Amino acid sequence: MPPGESKDVYDRIERELDALLEPGIDAVAAMATAASVLYQGVDKASWVGFYRVVAPDLLRIGPYQGPVGCMEIAFAQGVCGAAAARQETVIVPDVHAFPGHIACDAAARSEIVVPVLAGNGQLVAVLDVDSHQPAAFNEVDRQHLERIVRLLTPYV
Ligand code: SME
Repeated sequence: MPPGESKDVYDRIERELDALLEPGIDAVAAMATAASVLYQGVDKASWVGFYRVVAPDLLRIGPYQGPVGCMEIAFAQGVCGAAAARQETVIVPDVHAFPGHIACDAAARSEIVVPVLAGNGQLVAVLDVDSHQPAAFNEVDRQHLERIVRLLTPYV
């Protein structure tokens, strides 16, 4: 169901992740599990992973699946930085048209980045999902990925 992933796929991913997350696990375990479930389940995703907030304006690579990601991203850089700075989801249909996009993977064409908030509302990370397809992500992806990220709140 391009360009959004089908609702059924996301519903299955959400159920699977909900079943895998269990009380007492930590942020790394939760993020690593989410990255794996999403990467395996979302066909159009070429990279799925988390960048963690490690200083007031700095993200550092966290658990991910796919080619090697860049190590650190300032809030002033790239799509991940924009989502972190604004604390809102950013959908980029054409990464080449996004000023300051960081090309970790030269084949990446579009992406969606979703903020990850702790229970106290503090930004702790962003979820970055990239695709080799142009305009791969839309409001369906946003809605479901924001729901999936909220499953992580108790663990981050
Ligand atoms: N797409 C990101 C960079 C990180 S990677 O592609 C893994 C960005 O511009 O924020």
